[in-house]
Amino acid sequence: NTEKTLILIKPDAVKNSQIGKILEMYEKNNFNILAMKMIWMNEKLAAKHYEEHIGKEFYTRLVDFMTSGRLVAAVLQGEDIINRVRKLHGCTDPSKAEAGTIRQLFATDKTHNVVHASDCPETANKEIHIFFSEAEIFDN
Ligand code: CMP
Repeated sequence: NTEKTLILIKPDAVKNSQIGKILEMYEKNNFNILAMKMIWMNEKLAAKHYEEHIGKEFYTRLVDFMTSGRLVAAVLQGEDIINRVRKLHGCTDPSKAEAGTIRQLFATDKTHNVVHASDCPETANKEIHIFFSEAEIFDN
């Protein structure tokens, strides 16, 4: 079941020069990168992307962080990619993330947690189209 997912390499990872290491882990896992760009989120874009978290206790922290610097957005494609990327990223809370996962290796805490990935096909479809037009996605 070939799927697409959206990933974000968050501002903490960009500031800490970890873009290359994270992309390398995707490539080593044979995740196909179909689209990629660098963007700086504003509050409006953050609210669109994190719609389901509006009003939650951590929302302001989350948006302040996500708008604090530039980030990398990419579309990855592969067999069962949504689950495989989430597994590679590890638990949202890095202190609970499995050894060898991206968050265990690079993340600081639940807010500064280095990467985002879509959690299901419906979310993936929504999130991909927040950041990319169809013409920007090289569907090979
Ligand atoms: P992400 O995968 O980008 O999607 C939602 C984000 O909300 C999540 O990663 C975390 O960075 C953040 N988040 C979730 N729960 C908490 C929490 N309890 N405290 C702070 N941030 C959180």
